[in-house]
Amino acid sequence: MADLGVNIDHVATVRQARRTNEPDPVWAATLAELGGADGITLHLREDRRHIQDRDLRVLRETVTVKLNLELAAEPTIVGIACDNKPDQVTLVPEKREEVTTEGGLDLLAHRQRVRAAIARLRNAGIGVSLFLDPELKQLDAALELGADAVELHTGEYALAAPGKDQAAELARLVAAGEHVRKLGLTLHAGHGLTYRNVKPIAAIEGMTELNIGHSIVARALMVGFEQAVREMKRLISG
Ligand code: PXP
Repeated sequence: MADLGVNIDHVATVRQARRTNEPDPVWAATLAELGGADGITLHLREDRRHIQDRDLRVLRETVTVKLNLELAAEPTIVGIACDNKPDQVTLVPEKREEVTTEGGLDLLAHRQRVRAAIARLRNAGIGVSLFLDPELKQLDAALELGADAVELHTGEYALAAPGKDQAAELARLVAAGEHVRKLGLTLHAGHGLTYRNVKPIAAIEGMTELNIGHSIVARALMVGFEQAVREMKRLISG
């Protein structure tokens, strides 16, 4: 059964809309734990549009489940991760103009930068996952660069029209998942997953972690954070 990592970035997005101190993503993380989250995920972006350095510091002290920090393979941000010691870093591509992370990392184009980031993080005792499109040559590069895990980008699956397009995207993810397992890497997935589309992804053989944010935060506005997490956890559990 896959673990549920709850991404709390959008709680900070609401706070930053007014540059105030509420709602606090730290409070949301506690409620997510009470709802059964196996991990808390946050993305420290270079433009600090949602999560702030203070959030990472406080969450490192308060979160009792796995703390997964998403970041770009930029030396300054990697240094912040090494100082704060999350349990895991997920390296993602980052563009200032994007609304959210738009694609997987291109390991073939950024081999040296990613290799250097992985080495620094692993030296600091932090496990490293790479956010990748389900393309076999990217997955092979993940092993070569020294990653522990791969998070398969499920964005195309989430955007595909239900029916044969979505089935084709699911088949790509299933094949990529099998390849990740054959390489001996740990299998994660995330991006664009919702209460409606999560089950087939949770059922992929060897899936160990799903990172889900927007859909849970959106539902939390209606039913409360703890309940929203509990409902997602139940869906991915069977
Ligand atoms: N995984 C990664 C690597 C991400 O960048 C994001 C978005 O921050 C997510 C998972 C969660 O995506 P969503 O908010 O669409 O559930």
